[in-house]
Amino acid sequence: MAILKIARMGHPVLATVAEAVSDPTAPEVRRLVADMLETMIDANGAGLAAPQVHVPWRVVVFQAPAGREEGLSEEERFDHTAPLTVLINPEIEVIGEAREAGWEGCLSLPGLQGLVERPSHIRYRGVDHEGHRIERVAKGFHARVVQHECDHLDGVLYPERMGDLKKLIFETEARHWLPDKE
Ligand code: NI
Repeated sequence: MAILKIARMGHPVLATVAEAVSDPTAPEVRRLVADMLETMIDANGAGLAAPQVHVPWRVVVFQAPAGREEGLSEEERFDHTAPLTVLINPEIEVIGEAREAGWEGCLSLPGLQGLVERPSHIRYRGVDHEGHRIERVAKGFHARVVQHECDHLDGVLYPERMGDLKKLIFETEARHWLPDKE
């Protein structure tokens, strides 16, 4: 395993449409996934897409831990959380019309955060590196992180999803000017 170098905004790999993985269980995919997990955890990120480590394949890893949502029933919370997940060749289907704005950061835009509106309820499908099918419904932060990571596979960074670029700010400023946010 190895900690990989993360591409930053401006590197062409981040603007490229990644290729589908023909054999998700191939040894080179397993190796990539292991390195991506180690890199994501080392960088304290919620998710990472293969193009961010300079590999143009349709592979993402992410997690949506509990604790970001309050006042929900146990059943509702289920869709809001995800364990550490490997998703290869993902597909996203939007459920309903509801959209939600939330602050996002990205390891490829270090130090920045932006307010991004996205569909708040989705279903996603894919396969993991052991060949298991994955199909889940996601809401809230879980839906957001999956959409953010899958955007990387189409060469899209979160500022391209923003309606108001005045809401693209440095984290160090957010601490002073957004007191309601941690
Ligand atoms: Ni990102």
